[in-house]
Amino acid sequence: MVRGVRLEIRGLCHCYGGRDVLRDLDLEIVPGEFVAVVGRSGSGKTTLLRLLAGLESPTYGAILQDGSPLSGLNRRARLMFQDARLLPWDRVAGNVGLGLPADRAGRVSWALEQVGLEDRAEDWPRTLSGGQQQRVALARALAGSPGLLLLDEPLGALDALTRIEMQALVAQVWQASGFTVVLVTHDVEEAVTLADRVIIVDQGRIASETQIHLPRPRRRDSPHYAGLAEQILARILTKNSETFC
Ligand SMILES: Nc1ncnc2c1ncn2[C@@H]1O[C@H](COP(=O)(O)OP(=O)(O)O)[C@@H](O)[C@H]1O
Ligand SMILES: [Mg+2]
Repeated sequence: MVRGVRLEIRGLCHCYGGRDVLRDLDLEIVPGEFVAVVGRSGSGKTTLLRLLAGLESPTYGAILQDGSPLSGLNRRARLMFQDARLLPWDRVAGNVGLGLPADRAGRVSWALEQVGLEDRAEDWPRTLSGGQQQRVALARALAGSPGLLLLDEPLGALDALTRIEMQALVAQVWQASGFTVVLVTHDVEEAVTLADRVIIVDQGRIASETQIHLPRPRRRDSPHYAGLAEQILARILTKNSETFC
């Protein structure tokens, strides 16, 4: 088990060219928590993930990770995007082991096993389906033993069935590992299926948050599931999305 990171986000503001994208955002995330962030397009979700990854620095405010301010690239974090971003000239195992120190090579087969692709280690990425490529991207993230997994709509391009399978896989590896997750998704059901807490970002602020107390594994036909998803979607739809400073 890895220990997930604790995050404390205090008064976070981020401006792009005079435009406030994040405005005074406060959020605390406990180690090992699974937080889903939903909200309209352009509300600042990806920007928040980029700040947590250390790819951007806050214009104002602070992000504390395990009590220390983030500065530069966040070495405890791994990011996964909608596209797998695999190197086409390297085999599956090479992609998973990318950037790992030589003494961690054993992590590659472990990570591929976690995502059920141990028998595809020597294949080229182009011979895999979209869902399998995303599983390789997940294995690559896991191989780095992250304390924080940042997911930016990672299942957005997958067909409905593959998506449901991938959700189950993400839940499984998270429960087996103990890292902290921040998942950005536009799919409210996905958020309710996976997260301990669903946060709505609107106009660069947290507009509301909902604890999801449903037992795991989550079932879409359980009594409170549909009600929670509907309530969150209704809240998103009542918000406005544009803001200028
Ligand atoms: N590198 C950038 N330069 C200028 N504006 C940006 C940049 N990245 C994002 N934005 C703007 O910031 C706002 C929030 O973007 P983003 O965080 O990607 O939103 P979301 O992920 O919620 O759709 C959008 O209006 C977007 O156009
Ligand atoms: Mg985005």
